[in-house]
Order: sequence, then structure tokens, then C-alpha cells
Amino acid sequence: MSTPPIPSAYRFPDKPDAVEFRSFTHGLQPERVPHMMEQFTEDWRQRGVDAWNEVPNHWRPDADETVGWWTLPTYLGDEFVAPLLGAPPETCILQPSVHWTVQCLLSSPEVAARGTEVVVPETAFPSVLHSVQRWSDLRDLTPHVVAPTGDHRVDRSALLDAIGPDTALVALSHVGFTTGACLPDSFLQSVAERARRHDALFLLDGYHAAATRPIDVTQLGCDLYVGGLLKEASGSAGNTFLYLRDGLELAPRLTGWFGNAAPFEFRTEPSPHPDVRRRFLGGTTPVAPMYHAVEGVRLLLDVGLEAVRDHSLALTDRAIERADALDIPLRSPRAPSERSAMVLLEVSEAERLAAHLKQQHVYTDSRRNEVLRMAPFVWNTREEVDHAFNLIGDALDTGAYRSRSVDAAGPVT
Ligand SMILES: Cc1ncc(COP(=O)(O)O)c(C=O)c1O
Repeated sequence: MSTPPIPSAYRFPDKPDAVEFRSFTHGLQPERVPHMMEQFTEDWRQRGVDAWNEVPNHWRPDADETVGWWTLPTYLGDEFVAPLLGAPPETCILQPSVHWTVQCLLSSPEVAARGTEVVVPETAFPSVLHSVQRWSDLRDLTPHVVAPTGDHRVDRSALLDAIGPDTALVALSHVGFTTGACLPDSFLQSVAERARRHDALFLLDGYHAAATRPIDVTQLGCDLYVGGLLKEASGSAGNTFLYLRDGLELAPRLTGWFGNAAPFEFRTEPSPHPDVRRRFLGGTTPVAPMYHAVEGVRLLLDVGLEAVRDHSLALTDRAIERADALDIPLRSPRAPSERSAMVLLEVSEAERLAAHLKQQHVYTDSRRNEVLRMAPFVWNTREEVDHAFNLIGDALDTGAYRSRSVDAAGPVT
């Protein structure tokens, strides 16, 4: 398949030959984003304070529901995040970052009441791993860090063995950001089952999984699912989300007046909002990023997550075929069932190779100078993958890239 499923709904940089393979950091901008940001400035200008109560429903122009800045985080959670995750109504909310959500979760007395340990693999993203490690200084929650396998993956049997009577929480990445490996549903279901048996909570960090494939959080059995909309879903900074299993009771100690049951009564004691999701809001919601948060989600849902996944698999198949032909070892999995949207190639001087490709307007990135990371996604074609591998093949042949200077500022995430 060489036709992207969504050919013209994204805005490309002003470089006709640009090939963007960095959906794991920021997706291309959806076409409606400038319009939506204009709506934000207009709502702000025309309505001022009243925008908190009501603004036109720019997100669902045909719907009858009224929205206001006050209700946007849960409205967009219900309308756009829940379908991404196969989640029931009233279980999802927008959040500013995974870091914030995990801090709120760890601060909830209901977590520590379940045990004394948080099981987390060493390969978890720092927003999760470091939060868990630092909380042990404040509360009686000791990190139980599980070492990876020799090929940098989650050690599945060690992880299952680590879950026991002392476990309060298990926190895993659905897709490993350093390997591109997606944990299979059967393993996640075993984790959920074992966590449940020991009355522990199960948190999945769904960055790089959500918006790349159909997901069913209720079938996976996790209690909480966090993730971001700024990468494959083409949002921007400030666009993350939380799913909370229906009926889960949590009252974060990290709290603010937006999480309060009666914010305008300004009570002298906190009383958590009856909707558990809203307790994760903290202080005044940063609404500006919410105007464009779900434009990429809209595109992916319109085309269908099955079609998105099929296209992504076809392109990663092609990338793997071309890497094999060049004898480049893979850091990411081969099996489609464990593959994410990313392909990681083990090459020496990967930073210089990424810089060399960038010079020719093919955008990838590198990790620790050991791997070249690329994620051909819905806006890419098979021809672009071939073009990139033609350049990689030439560069490895001639070695010319080894003298390329690299950006002193270093790579972004
Ligand atoms: C697996 C994973 N989790 C979380 C994040 C981001 O966390 P935060 O929202 O705290 O910036 C990233 C960013 O790359 C990620 O790859």
C-alpha cells in the first residue's frame, strides 16, 4: 500500500521533499489546528470570563451539547479519548502531562492502603519511573524496579513474579520507548489478573500505543491508562489524558480547587469532587491546548484505527525488509503482534546518521548514539520509506555521514 489513509488532512513543513518519520515525538499538524486556535482567541476576546461557562461547540459543531472551558476536559475525554481506548462513558479526562497524573495517583491514600511497593520496570519512561522513585522519600511506597532482559525488553516473568501481597501498584509502559516493543494483550491481562488477586492497582502508560491501533482498556483489565495526544495523535504540549476504571475510588492529596466538589463555596476543608476524574484537575485548567488537542484524534477515528494500524504495519514491514537487505540489526520487534509504530535500527554513530538524513530533509532521531529511530505513520508512503533506506544504504556504504556534525543541543524526546 503506498497511499496514506489520510492524504491531505495534515499540514507539512514548507519543504517540498520533507519526510517526517518522528511521530513518536510530534505528529504533523492537522489542517484544522489554525482554525481551532483562532476559535480560542475569539472565545476569549468575545466572551471573556463567560467562556468558562459556555463557548460554541467547535469540537462537535453538529451536536446539541453545550460546552464551556469548565467542562472541556471531561467532554473531550468522553467524545474523543474514550473511543481511542474502547473506554466506557465518563471514564476519561484530559490532563496536562503524564508526570502530573502519576504524581496525583501516587499521592492518593487509596494507593498506599493497598500495599507498600510499586512494581515498575527499569525501562519505564522517567515521568513514571522517577515519580515512583521520588515518592518513596515522601510516603511509604517503595519502588520495586524490575531489571530488563538482555535485549532491553520488559522481563515478563520477573515482572509477574514481582507482583505479590506487598504490591500497591504496578506501572508499565504499553510500548517501550527505547525498544518500540508493544506488550502483548495476553501478558497485560496476566498482569491485571495478578494485580487484582493481590488487591493492587494496574497503571498502563499508553504513549506510542494509543492512537496507533485499536485498544480496549476494559479487555486489558488495567485500572488506569495514561497517554499523550501530542505524538501519533498530532496534538501539542499539554495534551495528555487519563482513563480511570469505572468505580475506582481515589482522592489525590495533590489537589486544587478545580478538583473540589464546590469550588465556588471556597470551603475551608477540601471535599473531593463526586466525579473522580475531576479530582485529577488540580488548579485552573490550561484550556488553550485543548482547542487543538483532538484534531488529530478526529482524523484517526474518521479513518478507523484498524486502517491506521494496517498502514503502519505495511510501512514497518517495508522498513524491516529494507533493513534486512542492508544487514542492519533491529532493536525493535519483528513480530507484528509485538511491533509498535516505531522501528529502531542498531547502527554505530546513529546521531550522525540522523543528522545526515536531516540534512536531506528525512527526519528520524537517534538514541544514545546506538539506534536510529523512525516511525513511518499515516501521512507517510512506502516510497518515502524506500527513499529513506536508499539514503541510509548510501550513507553506510560511503561512510560519509560519520563526518557530519551533530546538534550540540542534543535530541528531543
Ligand atoms: C512512554 C512515555 N510516557 C510518557 C511520556 C511523556 O511524559 P510527560 O507527559 O510527563 O511529559 C513520553 C514522552 O515521550 C513517553 O514516551
